[in-house]
Amino acid sequence: MTQVDVLLGLQWGDEGKGKIVDVLSPKYDLIARFQGGPNAGHTLEFDGKKFVLNTIPSGIFNENIMNLIGNGVVIDPIILKRELDNLKTAGHDPVAAGKLVLARKAHLILPTHQLLDAANEQKMGAGKIGSTLKGIGPTYMDKTGRNGLRVGDTTLPDFKERYTKLVEKHKEILSHYDFEYDLTEKEAAFFEAIEFIKNIPHVDSEHFVNGYLKAGKKVLAEGAQGTLLDVDFGSYPFVTSSNTTTAGACTGLGIAPNKVGEVYGIFKAYCTRVGGGPFPTELDNEVGEELRKVGHEFGATTGRARRCGWIDLPALKYAIMLNGVTELIMMKADVLDGFDTIYACTHYEHNGETIDYMPYDIISIQPKPVLKAIEGWKTDLTKITDKSQVPSQVTDYIAFLEKELEVPIKYLSVGPDRTQTLAL
Ligand code: GDP
Ligand code: IMO
Ligand code: MG
Repeated sequence: MTQVDVLLGLQWGDEGKGKIVDVLSPKYDLIARFQGGPNAGHTLEFDGKKFVLNTIPSGIFNENIMNLIGNGVVIDPIILKRELDNLKTAGHDPVAAGKLVLARKAHLILPTHQLLDAANEQKMGAGKIGSTLKGIGPTYMDKTGRNGLRVGDTTLPDFKERYTKLVEKHKEILSHYDFEYDLTEKEAAFFEAIEFIKNIPHVDSEHFVNGYLKAGKKVLAEGAQGTLLDVDFGSYPFVTSSNTTTAGACTGLGIAPNKVGEVYGIFKAYCTRVGGGPFPTELDNEVGEELRKVGHEFGATTGRARRCGWIDLPALKYAIMLNGVTELIMMKADVLDGFDTIYACTHYEHNGETIDYMPYDIISIQPKPVLKAIEGWKTDLTKITDKSQVPSQVTDYIAFLEKELEVPIKYLSVGPDRTQTLAL
């Protein structure tokens, strides 16, 4: 029997998960998304083309690989349909190719979930989470509140009545907000999309994935968001509403913890965050601006400018511990090509103490980063095709990180394209 390898982000999302899943997917038979929803934006580049996937797993562009949207994912049928329509226009039709299946137990995002997200954020004003406004929080609330609608419900004769019952509940809540809306267009699009997703095979993801393992096939679970956005362990309440950690792959697919194999932890050579919340190494200055410009740090889903800062080792150590990371993958090293000196946060100064962990009160008192200066490499890494060409300053930086993090770095990414990936 094989095991499920897991690939997930160790920072605040947008580490480059989509690119690496695409790179690794030829080694696998099944790629499975296990949590989150269309708040994700996973970018893939190859053959001069660029794709952004929100709900669809990033194995979709490889031949002979099945892709599963797992039970832990929340699906917006309108967005899923749009994603598939766009792919079709670009010459890819995973549904016709039989390469995509949906978990029956995955919950549906309704148009009113999005309205609730927006109404809530509007009310919070300056203290808002900075949600992607895709309805993620309200949908997971209905899931845990035992009100939600699932993919499997769409084929029931009373689906419309169930929908109406839930929407009435949402309208009642919305009436308590000073929030105007018109549902007509969205509702029509929703029901059109529901008909559309009925044509994608529905499966029980727990049996589906375990069946792959029993048959000796290889499975990769694709995380969304990042560890520091995990609802339990992230910078709460500035988090998303799912477990973005390895444990989430177990509940989000229906696999037992002892079925988890390798855990690939992916991080940028620096750090970004989009939305509100603490970010100890943030550079709210021209250096941060430079990272944003060179790294094209604008959200793949919302287009918002991402906040940028130096790499944060206490945060990475925490993420490695929570996930049981066995192999690290460092992304976007090329973004640092032009810097004479780069910095790594090794500790925090917090309440008069030097600490090496993320404190509970990080929300109210932002820790001050203790930074170590590291010599830059001042070399264009994007053209490098083999590890033998990696400059010594980069090798030293990698050795320093491996010593601090106590996990080997197995891949180095030096550009957005599939081919710009070095095995170390
Ligand atoms: P994800 O959400 O983790 O899949 O990451 P996103 O797609 O939201 O953001 C990563 C961005 O960085 C995308 O625009 C990628 O095309 C780009 N990218 C990925 N790896 C690299 C890299 O090594 N170098 C550079 N310069 N860009 C990269
Ligand atoms: P990928 O998979 C970066 C952030 C939002 C906000 C918070 C809550 O592309 O890495 P939500 O819409 O979930 O209620 O927003 O989480 N966020 C992400 N940030 N990458 C993502 O996904 C994110 N998904 C949500 O910006 O701060
Ligand atoms: Mg993203």
